[in-house]
Amino acid sequence: MAAEEPSLTEALRRQAVACRQLGSLQYADLIMDLIGDIERGGLTHELLHDRPEAPLRDALVLRYVAAVHRVVLRGDAPSLALRYPSAGGDGARIDLADFLAVVDAYRDEVVDALGRTVQTNEVGRCASIVPAIAHAAREHRMPLTMLEIGASGGLISNWDRYGYDCFGSTAGQQHSALQFTDNWDDPFDLSGITEVYTRAACDIAPLDVSDPEAQLRLLSFVWPDQHRRFKNLRAALSIAALERVQVDHSDAGEWLADTLPRRARGTLTIVFHSIVWQYLPRATKDRVREVLRDEGARCDAENPIAWIRLEPAGDHPDVRMTTWPAGDETVVALSSYHGAAVRRPVMPTPA
Ligand SMILES: C[S@@+](CC[C@H](N)C(=O)[O-])C[C@H]1O[C@@H](n2cnc3c(N)ncnc32)[C@H](O)[C@@H]1O
Repeated sequence: MAAEEPSLTEALRRQAVACRQLGSLQYADLIMDLIGDIERGGLTHELLHDRPEAPLRDALVLRYVAAVHRVVLRGDAPSLALRYPSAGGDGARIDLADFLAVVDAYRDEVVDALGRTVQTNEVGRCASIVPAIAHAAREHRMPLTMLEIGASGGLISNWDRYGYDCFGSTAGQQHSALQFTDNWDDPFDLSGITEVYTRAACDIAPLDVSDPEAQLRLLSFVWPDQHRRFKNLRAALSIAALERVQVDHSDAGEWLADTLPRRARGTLTIVFHSIVWQYLPRATKDRVREVLRDEGARCDAENPIAWIRLEPAGDHPDVRMTTWPAGDETVVALSSYHGAAVRRPVMPTPA
């Protein structure tokens, strides 16, 4: 059964808690101040209440603050830039009146942004899924066909073009401009990753990361006081400028139904996604499951499939993997939303 959607203010309160837990004190404080603005019937109330989007599931407040962040990054909000570290600011508390003044000045742009899907491409999530990719690759020892759904700008599909050093177990490219070295709380074996034979990706609203507008949009969804995420995203964009993954404009269910049956024999096909599931309509989720189940039932040792997903599981996401032909499901890792504190799942104690 679908979880009940909370009220607007409750959705904001939960988002504020999440921002605090994930290390963005600026957004945690700002969002709490926005709740006050809603309760007073202010501009935030006027713009966010009665929207067709679900406040929590559609992350309405993240769309709202990202719309303003975009104005800041563009250089059009100097009073906020003084506070936003992403624009060289000091990281001090964002003044609500300054924030609302920018919302008011760019009202049409903000309203337009509220109707658009959340567009992140959080490359830190590569550190969460790489242990699962290594696990599957070691098991099958075949070149990889990588199929990503909900890929946004395709930056996670470039995962093998980044470098990883997990307590001395390395993978990827050690001279890449983007290196992950301290994302794990526990050691994971990253050995045995085979070459990527081919990669493809889709998104319902793909971003062309060679377009400066799209780059700005992606950067605007990073929380302004999170330097590391900003730096990593910029590095991934610079790598994509040389090796960009084409992201097909398609619904995930339709795309997978078309793509998965045509995969190359002699490769291990990895279907993967991160923080996408909650955004998919029910029919799309059903289709994705159905295609995987049908192709899983048909596959053999020459064209195996692994389905790897980093998706919410209770308070935190986990990385799950189902492999076919065996059909086994494993939780490979627990993670945070942005690919930090990746750790081993707690195994149940034998009775
Ligand atoms: C929160 S973003 C995550 C993007 C990326 N996977 C990441 O981890 O950075 C969710 C993505 O799902 C995409 N999406 C939503 N509905 C979709 C659908 N029906 N089919 C394909 N992609 C979809 C959105 O456009 C968006 O790019």
